[in-house]
Amino acid sequence: EAASKGEYRHYMLKEIFEQPEVLKRTLQGRISKHHVLEEAFGTEAKAIFDRVKGVQIVACGTSYHAGLVAKYWMESIAGIPCQVEVASEYRYRKVFVPDDTLFVTISQSGETADTLAALKEAKKSDYLASLVICNAPSSSLVRESDLVFMTHAGPEIGVASTKAFTTQLVALQLLTIALGRRHGLTEAIESDMVSALASLPEAVSKALLLDDVIKKTSEAFADKHHALFLGRGVEYPVAMEGALKLKEISYIHAESYPAGELKHGPLALVDSDMPIVAVAPNNELMEKLKSNLEEVQARGGKLFVFSDQADAFPNSNDVTVIDVHSVPETIAPMVYTIPLQLLSYHVAIVKGTDVDQPRNLAKSVTVE
Ligand code: G6P
Repeated sequence: EAASKGEYRHYMLKEIFEQPEVLKRTLQGRISKHHVLEEAFGTEAKAIFDRVKGVQIVACGTSYHAGLVAKYWMESIAGIPCQVEVASEYRYRKVFVPDDTLFVTISQSGETADTLAALKEAKKSDYLASLVICNAPSSSLVRESDLVFMTHAGPEIGVASTKAFTTQLVALQLLTIALGRRHGLTEAIESDMVSALASLPEAVSKALLLDDVIKKTSEAFADKHHALFLGRGVEYPVAMEGALKLKEISYIHAESYPAGELKHGPLALVDSDMPIVAVAPNNELMEKLKSNLEEVQARGGKLFVFSDQADAFPNSNDVTVIDVHSVPETIAPMVYTIPLQLLSYHVAIVKGTDVDQPRNLAKSVTVE
C-alpha cells in the first residue's frame, strides 16, 4: 500500500500530502502533554545527553538542510554550540572536536556513502557518542550509531525528499528540547514547544490547502531559467530547501540567499525575468526582510512572498503574496516548507519534467 501512488499522479505529490499523517506518527510516543520523552533516542540517551556540551551535525542534500535549521534551534533554544557540515567535506577534513560533543548524522536512507564514511571517521575521533536520525530501520547508519531516532515517514519513493525532511525537523526539535533541558530551557518553554509540535499535523494539513493557489502561481515560473529564494534566520535554510526542490525537479537554476546578503552580489542579477521567492513568517526579522524585498522590487524583480502577514506586503503586479496561516514560530520551518514543496511540484508539472525520477539524480547515493 505504502508503495502505490493511490489517487495521486506522482509519488512526490502523495508523499507531500502524507505529511500530516507521518508527522503525527513521528511524534507518537515521543511526547507527553508537556514533555519530550527522551527514551525515544534509546535507552542510553539520558546518560549521554547529561554530558553533551555541543553538537556536530553531518548530512547530505535535504538532510543537510534539516541540520542547518537545527543549528539555529540548538544555539537559540538549547543554548549549546552546534556545527553543521556536508558529509563529503567533513569526511576529508582534519577536524577539531571540542570536549563532550555529540556527533549527529541525518539521513533518510541510512545508506548515503559520504555520511556513512563521515560517521566512520568520527568514530576514530574523540566524540562523546553518535546519534543518527534516520528513516530506514535496518540501514548501515542505524547499525553503526550509538543512539538512534527513527523518523516514521514510511517509504519515500520520489527522489526529491519531502516527508523525510519535515519528520527530520521534528526529530531535531525533540533533540533540541532534550538537550536544552540540561542547559536552562525552562519547563514552561518546553511545554509551549511540545504543544506547538502537537499542533503541527493540523497546521500542515492547513498549509496543504494552499495547493490550488500555488498551482496557479506556478505558471509564472514555467518560462524562467533562474529563481532566487530568500529567507532570514531559521527560515534561510528553509529557503535553501525550497531552491533545492525547484532545481531538482524542474531544472530551473535556483539559488538561495540569506536576504541580508542581497546587496553583496545577487541584487545584480535581479530583473523582471527573475522570480524571487521569500519565506516571510512574522518574526523578529520580518521587518528587515521586508526592507530587503523592497530593494528587490525597486529593481523590477517579481516577488512571491509566503507570509502570515499578507497586509504587510501589498499584492500588486510585481508582488504575489501567498497567505500562510499563523503558526507558533518553533514550527514555522516545517509549515513553510509545505508550500515550497508544492511550488516545485507544480512548476515541474507545467514544465513536463519527470517529477519522481529527475534526470541524473538518485534516491540514495551509495557510492562516492
Ligand atoms: C540524494 C537524494 C536526496 C537526499 C540526499 C541525502 O541526493 O536525492 O533527496 O536528500 O541524497 O540522502 P539521505 O538518504 O542521506 O538523506
